[in-house]
Amino acid sequence: MIKRDFLVIGAGIAGLSYAIKVASKWPKSKIMVLSKEGFDNSNTQYAQGGIAGVLPCSNDQVNKHVEDTMIAGDHKNDKEIVEMVVSEASESIDDLINWGVDFDKNNKGKYDLGLEGGHSKNRVLHHKDFTGKEIQDKLLRQAENLSNIELLHHNFALELINNKSNNRVIGAYIYNAESEKVETVVSKIVFIATGGIGQVYKITTNPNVATGDGIALAYRIGANVEGMELVQFHPTALFGDIGDRAFLISEAVRGAGAILRNENGEAYMEKYDVRKDLAPRDIVARANLNEIRNSTIPYVYLDVTHIQDNGFEKHFPVIFAKCKELGLNLKKDYIPVAPAAHYLCGGISVNKKGKSSLNGMYACGECSSTGLHGTNRLASNSLLEAVVYANQSYKNTLNEFDNIEFEVDVDDFWHPVINKNISLDLPLKELRKKLQWLMSSYMAVEKSDESINTMAKEVEKISSNFEKLIHSKAYTIKSLEFRNLLSISQLIVEHSKERKSNSGVFFNKDL
Ligand code: SIN
Repeated sequence: MIKRDFLVIGAGIAGLSYAIKVASKWPKSKIMVLSKEGFDNSNTQYAQGGIAGVLPCSNDQVNKHVEDTMIAGDHKNDKEIVEMVVSEASESIDDLINWGVDFDKNNKGKYDLGLEGGHSKNRVLHHKDFTGKEIQDKLLRQAENLSNIELLHHNFALELINNKSNNRVIGAYIYNAESEKVETVVSKIVFIATGGIGQVYKITTNPNVATGDGIALAYRIGANVEGMELVQFHPTALFGDIGDRAFLISEAVRGAGAILRNENGEAYMEKYDVRKDLAPRDIVARANLNEIRNSTIPYVYLDVTHIQDNGFEKHFPVIFAKCKELGLNLKKDYIPVAPAAHYLCGGISVNKKGKSSLNGMYACGECSSTGLHGTNRLASNSLLEAVVYANQSYKNTLNEFDNIEFEVDVDDFWHPVINKNISLDLPLKELRKKLQWLMSSYMAVEKSDESINTMAKEVEKISSNFEKLIHSKAYTIKSLEFRNLLSISQLIVEHSKERKSNSGVFFNKDL
């Protein structure tokens, strides 16, 4: 049995920010941070646009950011939470800057604040079009310099361990792919920061690791999970041969003046919203879907031809290079784009301090549901939420850490048996592809009563096929990941059935 003061599951902006804070505060404590693959594969890593925040030096106002967040979230947000997150943005952004994150500045030496959909002001700090990578690299470097943080890659959390008598999470079973052993880790605090769920869909901007593990694990031991029907689709993922993840064309590109056009070259967004191309994401995604349905091609176009002379390549080097690789000349060619699953607005319910419904367990970042986003997240509020809530959780840890004792009575718990040698690769790949395809067909931007009910039956069928496949009860890492994907799909379906009115990203045409 391994004892650690803190067990942080997930190593994106949420997990690393919290780990750095607690490690600096308690230099004698031991912090274990797990990444199920490498540290360069998280949702944070792929964030392009940036982090929204009202800085003291800008001519912006906190109440404007609050209002924009509430409008985007269809006023279903928790206003107290919105006010708290938006007011703390500047302090949390300062933390990132102090940890070495470099946000772009203009030629006057001031932060170059970008504009994105739903924002009434330019307030997005960014590092070209790879802000997430910049943040991930710098936080990782900071964590590596703290000797009490143990960064473990290729370590997969199989199950959380809880003590039912006091409703407390006391650790986790971890499979170490290098030693090929399952370790029992007990910990005073368990911090879940496993990111998104995009891989339940065929077309997603999320990397292949975004399988909702933390949510599935927490749900299995009884944590409250909410808002799973609130899956946000990004309106402008690059259309084409996508592999595991669709390449994103950042909303910041529309902030810089790009225009959506249909197959006939018409700029259509004014038909849908007075804010045109910079309307909130749910509106633009539905508009794109509608235009695609009324055309002969499975995509719409993003026109950036008129903004090529304004430093496009310098500002968006990754997007420019990707388009060039595909043979697009952005001075004359439009970029083919379509909606793709992007972000979960719900997740593990947490209070204002980041605490889940189970003692000893925090959840932070995309896997958590704080009330900030309402039914549709405002662009670039996700990195902000993660870093502010890592700080909220840290502040609450200050109150409780010294009074928590290790609980080590874990002998009776079950965990899955891993057998590396059984090969389930092919049938599993087929099941995963089928699940993703069905979710994209029935549970995407627009749903209906029928599509939800059909998906409910399909998930049951896939689950029973999966059970048959695993009849020996010896699992592989990929099969356990798939088990999590199944739980997430079931939750999305169940919560979609329960929702009785449309709002934000949720649209059932029969309501
Ligand atoms: C984007 O760059 O468009 C994505 C940023 C976000 O999801 O907020």
